[in-house]
Amino acid sequence: MKEQIDNLVDELKNFKISSKDELEKFRLKFLVKKGLVNDLFNEFKSLTGEEKKKWGKELNVAKQKVESFYKSSLEQLEESGVGNSEVESELPGYFSELGGRHPISYVVEEMNQIFERLGFSVSVGPEVEDDWHNFSALNFPPNHPARDMQDTFFVEDDIALRTHTSSVQVRLMEEGNLPIRSVMPGRVYRNEAISARSNCFFHQVEGLYINKGVSFLDLKQTLYNFVQEFFGANTKVRFRASYFPFTEPSAEMDIFLGTETESDYKLTKGTGWLEILGCGMVDPNVLENCKIDSNEYSGFAFGLGVDRIAMLKYGVKDLRTFFNNDKRFLDQFATL
Ligand code: DAH
Repeated sequence: MKEQIDNLVDELKNFKISSKDELEKFRLKFLVKKGLVNDLFNEFKSLTGEEKKKWGKELNVAKQKVESFYKSSLEQLEESGVGNSEVESELPGYFSELGGRHPISYVVEEMNQIFERLGFSVSVGPEVEDDWHNFSALNFPPNHPARDMQDTFFVEDDIALRTHTSSVQVRLMEEGNLPIRSVMPGRVYRNEAISARSNCFFHQVEGLYINKGVSFLDLKQTLYNFVQEFFGANTKVRFRASYFPFTEPSAEMDIFLGTETESDYKLTKGTGWLEILGCGMVDPNVLENCKIDSNEYSGFAFGLGVDRIAMLKYGVKDLRTFFNNDKRFLDQFATL
């Protein structure tokens, strides 16, 4: 018996395991039912009582050596990652899909570029805004009904998610680097019922030009220019008088789509005209709130709605589909 136990231990010493295959070979040789360890135990059964006493302990020690060698080899292999990363050079590689730009980002960028060609820079501001920048500086007095024009998500008493990008105008004017000629794209939030045509968040591109002697004519010409570049040279527009606390006079601008197709009919509510922006001459109160001398400087401002324009551009009927993160929808824009 002694010789057999010694042989087993010798075999164990000579065994080297450096791969999962070798580990499996070891298991098959030593540890299965018909393996070396069990063979010895079978022989052990046929020994006399005296001999069993003599060899039992040694046999158990040898068995434990085999088992712990197997266990530690397995652990080592797992730790070093051997066998997990075998390179199979014949297999085709994994194809990782490229993402695409979101259609709203694409429209915003296109708008920015048109204004940049007219000499506007691009500025951004925070989405969580204080009352001063979102309302008070823009000539919305406290408790004034004009505040209800924009249903607001409040974060704290005087802090809210901005309801429009006009807040960024205030930040730019406060910086005081005159003249200012900038567009300000961004996401805005309003507590509105969600439907195919309105959402609780949407996107605007704000525009601001402040200089000496700026007139309403400059405003109109800038916007005509934008429309011709974005919608095509023959696009008809109209201005309607309107009201915003921060501009005087104020207007809204519509573009003409007609009513020939069903979707144009619906989008324009049967009138053929679609409102795309609000605008006006910056109210002198706003200039003064931002420490700009309104006797010396004047300016115009406008706020373009991006989402509706994107719906129009891509023929999307339900605004919500832009933000559902449905890959099948977004994939259609992947090449943008
Ligand atoms: N802030 C307005 C809104 O969200 C849009 C707007 C109107 C912006 C007139 C302007 C402006 O800069 O002059 O409804």
